[in-house]
Amino acid sequence: MTNPEKIYVGLDDNSYDVLVGSDLISRAGNFIAPLLRRKRIVIVTDDNVGGLYLNPLSAALTSNGVSVEAITLPAGEQTKSFSQLEQLCDNLVELKVERNDLIVALGGGVIGDITGFAASILRRGCRFVQIPTTLLAQVDSSVGGKTAINVRGGKNLIGAFHQPVLVLADTDVLASLPPRELRAGYAEVVKYGLLGDATFFEWLEENGPALLSGDPVLMSHAVQRSITAKSRIVEADEKETGQRALLNLGHTFGHAFEAEMGYSQKLLHGEAVALGMVMAFDYSVTKGLCNADHAVRVKTHLEDVGLPVTPYEIDGFNASAAELMTHIWQDKKVSAGKLTFILAREIGEAFIANDVDADHIENFLETALQA
Ligand code: NAD
Ligand code: GLY
Repeated sequence: MTNPEKIYVGLDDNSYDVLVGSDLISRAGNFIAPLLRRKRIVIVTDDNVGGLYLNPLSAALTSNGVSVEAITLPAGEQTKSFSQLEQLCDNLVELKVERNDLIVALGGGVIGDITGFAASILRRGCRFVQIPTTLLAQVDSSVGGKTAINVRGGKNLIGAFHQPVLVLADTDVLASLPPRELRAGYAEVVKYGLLGDATFFEWLEENGPALLSGDPVLMSHAVQRSITAKSRIVEADEKETGQRALLNLGHTFGHAFEAEMGYSQKLLHGEAVALGMVMAFDYSVTKGLCNADHAVRVKTHLEDVGLPVTPYEIDGFNASAAELMTHIWQDKKVSAGKLTFILAREIGEAFIANDVDADHIENFLETALQA
């Protein structure tokens, strides 16, 4: 078995390794056991991922002398709720999880976000490990310490920064991911090219379709490159006081559509990000900031791999620009009543635009909805 690639996230006392490679779940005991203060672990997973990977992970840990208990939550975005958080915390307390024990999040971004948040508040902060099982979670949500749940007013509005102590990104598990989920995660991969690495975007234009068809070498390269890009940004700005906001490229538009669709299966998070990135480039073109050729390339690539690039591709979408604006005003980047968007000068050069005119955005959305 080959050694995994190691990407170090340097955050002083909160530093950790992200390991990327094959067969990591079957070797998880070797990586996790040295971090334990006592040989006991609680795994949190969902009912899809649990059926596939809980037994292999438990076996890998018990073979290293670690006792394992598991909590299985329902799969899906609705799980990122106060009621599920309360139940999860109650279960962790009943299992007498101590502050220095390790909780393992085994699943996609939903499980990583709610488990990380529970770990951040349980006994004022417990250690946790991320074992991300979706492409989106491997390249984005498992790294960087953002944890959250959703409330009626919007997505990820209740949360905390809480870094994991280790991330194990086993790229083999992506083979069981439904193709639509794989594509949705791919949107976050494309994001890294668009925001800061034009060469990577060119590589994706060439290799994206083969990667999505299951080529493990291409997939592994894309995962490593994405995690490296994210790690460098997080190291420079852990709490998002500046440049980390670039990782929100496409998210302000995207979240508005996601909220409008009730965070349902009608529009997955990564799909919303794909549409949002197209809009961010189109808006940049309308403001004379970016050459139209770049926006066309973005749209063409995302469309080629089967991601939504226009609102009318969203099943059942029927909202006005004004309705979308109510969601946009709930964005976490709103400050002193001003909107902030991530816009682009070209592919590979995104920037943070503060004080964006809300009327311009609403007019832009009106035009986009008529197209
Ligand atoms: P998800 O966790 O809901 O997983 C998608 C689906 O795939 C689920 O049904 C899950 O059970 C299933 N699944 C997961 N791994 C599988 C596998 N290997 N094989 C088969 N099925 C599998 O969704 P997601 O796209 O991973 O994450 C979306 C969430 O991540 C959103 O809530 C979003 O807000 C959050 N997010 C957080 C951050 C962050 O920085 N914390 C960043 C981006 C997104
Ligand atoms: N997914 C955006 C961030 O981690 O900042």
